[in-house]
Amino acid sequence: MEKAVRLCFLGPPGAGKGTQAEMVSAHFHIPHISTGDMLREAVREQTELGKRAQAIMERGELVPDDVVTGIVRERLERADCRPGFVLDGFPRTVVQANALQGILEDLHQPLERVLNLIVPDDIIVLRSTGRRVCRQCGANYHLVFNPPAVPDRCDLCGGELYQRDDDREATVRRRLAVYAEQTAPLVDYYRARGLLRDVDGNAAVDTVFTRVLAAI
Ligand code: AP5
Ligand code: MG
Ligand code: ZN
Repeated sequence: MEKAVRLCFLGPPGAGKGTQAEMVSAHFHIPHISTGDMLREAVREQTELGKRAQAIMERGELVPDDVVTGIVRERLERADCRPGFVLDGFPRTVVQANALQGILEDLHQPLERVLNLIVPDDIIVLRSTGRRVCRQCGANYHLVFNPPAVPDRCDLCGGELYQRDDDREATVRRRLAVYAEQTAPLVDYYRARGLLRDVDGNAAVDTVFTRVLAAI
């Protein structure tokens, strides 16, 4: 059996975590686990979780740790995560990082690498405000950096593209502040454990992917 690949992406909103995690997932044939995508799906379906999360997400703040930790535990326990997984957007607080460690200890599947995508704030704002997402399959585009072949239509499934509620500039700035306050401490947390690799994320998507593979 091939060695399991257990990874996590850290980085501010719009750094390219989702874009790179999707490529890593395809490359290693491992699930891409994005708490943001899972929460947006819950909001779309208006489940109990979705109703709780919606207003918090629209403000650009964090959903409570126990809520997110619960959905991640459930996901990581599934059999398709045995060959590995790539986490995107989780953990986001020290409480979540400690919870993750507990979950992975229970599963005897320690995390092997944390990739820290570094992108300057002004680029982040451009990337986030120009992002468009497929309503049907969740694929990400960018009006300038990664436009769809046909305007407002998904290349993969033909679905309609929309702007995320939290991608307006004021909310992006709030998300950046929340990142600096609550998530940035995880850089030192994972560096201290020897798991962290910094990746310069301020380049074309394919260039960043080459750097990501090298860091893994
Ligand atoms: P989440 O969905 O995780 O959002 P985020 O962390 O703010 O990150 P984004 O998805 O905005 O950016 P990304 O880094 O994935 O970049 P992407 O690849 O899309 O979370 C949303 C909300 O959910 C949170 O605010 C919170 O409320 C809640 N939540 C989620 N997880 C939680 C948790 N663990 N705890 C508590 N609450 C949680 O790229 C961005 C854009 O740039 C795209 O348009 C893309 O096409 C473009 N792009 C990407 N790479 C490049 C490149 N190299 N060059 C040019 N353009 C690029
Ligand atoms: Mg994302
Ligand atoms: Zn689509």
